[in-house]
Amino acid sequence: MLALRRLPAARLVGLRSISAWSAVPAGPPDPILGVTEAFKADKDPRKINLGVGAYRDENGKPYVLGSVKKAEALLAEQMNDKEYLPITGNGQFTKLAAELAYSPESAPLTEGRIAVTQSISGTGALRIGGAFLGRHYPHSKAIYLPTPTWGNHIPLFRDSGLEVRNYRYFDKSTVGIDWAGLTEDLKNAPEKSIVLFHACAHNPTGVDPTPEQWKELSDLVKEKQFFPFFDMAYQGFASGDCTKDAFAVRHFVKEGHQIALSQSFAKNMGLYGERVGAFSLVTADPEEKARVDSQLKIVIRPMYSNPPLHGARIAATILGSPELKTAWKAKAKARPNPTTTSPKAPKKTRKNNPKTPDKGAKTKPKTARSTSTGPNPPKTKPPQKKPKTKRTPNARTPRPGRKTGNGANLPKAVKKPVKANRKKNFRGMLRECHSEVFFYRCQKR
Ligand SMILES: Cc1ncc(COP(=O)(O)O)c(C=O)c1O
Repeated sequence: MLALRRLPAARLVGLRSISAWSAVPAGPPDPILGVTEAFKADKDPRKINLGVGAYRDENGKPYVLGSVKKAEALLAEQMNDKEYLPITGNGQFTKLAAELAYSPESAPLTEGRIAVTQSISGTGALRIGGAFLGRHYPHSKAIYLPTPTWGNHIPLFRDSGLEVRNYRYFDKSTVGIDWAGLTEDLKNAPEKSIVLFHACAHNPTGVDPTPEQWKELSDLVKEKQFFPFFDMAYQGFASGDCTKDAFAVRHFVKEGHQIALSQSFAKNMGLYGERVGAFSLVTADPEEKARVDSQLKIVIRPMYSNPPLHGARIAATILGSPELKTAWKAKAKARPNPTTTSPKAPKKTRKNNPKTPDKGAKTKPKTARSTSTGPNPPKTKPPQKKPKTKRTPNARTPRPGRKTGNGANLPKAVKKPVKANRKKNFRGMLRECHSEVFFYRCQKR
């Protein structure tokens, strides 16, 4: 500091211009969170954010579940300390999270052979899983992801040191699963590869395998000796029933697969910013579990040392209280669409938009949490066109973004892109329109 003070002003200016970061290139904005930033910056009152699937009330404002408010009130009364959690987090929370996913009667749970750790929401769980597999899975460093998949999966697993490959998942002509492509790609993948599955509410398509298809997938995974990694970011949010949404996870475990599982409580409890999640691995026996536990700690400790307290306490309070758990589950059941099912929603919405087709509820996507306009997303831009919709480049359209107050704007906003897709993809266009109608039916309840 003293030496710097003695330098002439001209030399100091010279020093300042050689920044260590002068060669750092500007990166692109995040495709999902970037939409939220653009949404916040936009002053148009008719704006609709179709980027992040988050709870909103009928005025489009962030919404906190009643069970969460009650849990927080209980926690406030308890005046808990703020000590560090252990590396693997709040033990009560991880126990209850594992029970929610696997069921309390699940054999590996009752036999004490599931290694589980709290994580920084679902993203953190996936990252711990990627790092653990990169370091300890002995057979392959390749992970197969569905096409399309949640945008962050690709950099996340790449940064974890895995080699990212793809399997076909979505058929844009039927707006359903490309079953032939999916099974062909997995049959052609090397044995013992790691394969990622979205456990429910596939993001961005909203299309999930049926229970029969999950059973076939379990057989295929067995035949190819793949390592199945489930990303369950939406348990209870897909069908409204936590047990139904856990079908794939529970079936694979029952069939003897040693799965990896990532859980998030961001969406199903609306705890987005609290960053509550869990990562678990099914092991062979309690002795192996203890070894895996010790290595999970070694992965986590240099990443972030230990996880945050508050969100895990909220989730544990809800899952551990029969009353709050029932209230939370009832809320999930009551909302095929949590934010657009408002008693105050305008009844005449469809009349306002007579061109919205009113057939084919049968053909709506299997999961009603988000829809996709397919991998050739329509252009939703130009800024002067109104009303404005902000959606991600893959045109994922989470339903919660369609706040009821602005819901009437949505058909107008999507009409043009849907029209543009019509020639290319007639059935897809129909499906798209039907899902919009489904949305309005939800509003009417
Ligand atoms: C499929 C999928 N996995 C994981 C996540 C991670 O979510 P979070 O880190 O907020 O729990 C998301 C979020 O959108 C997702 O869609």
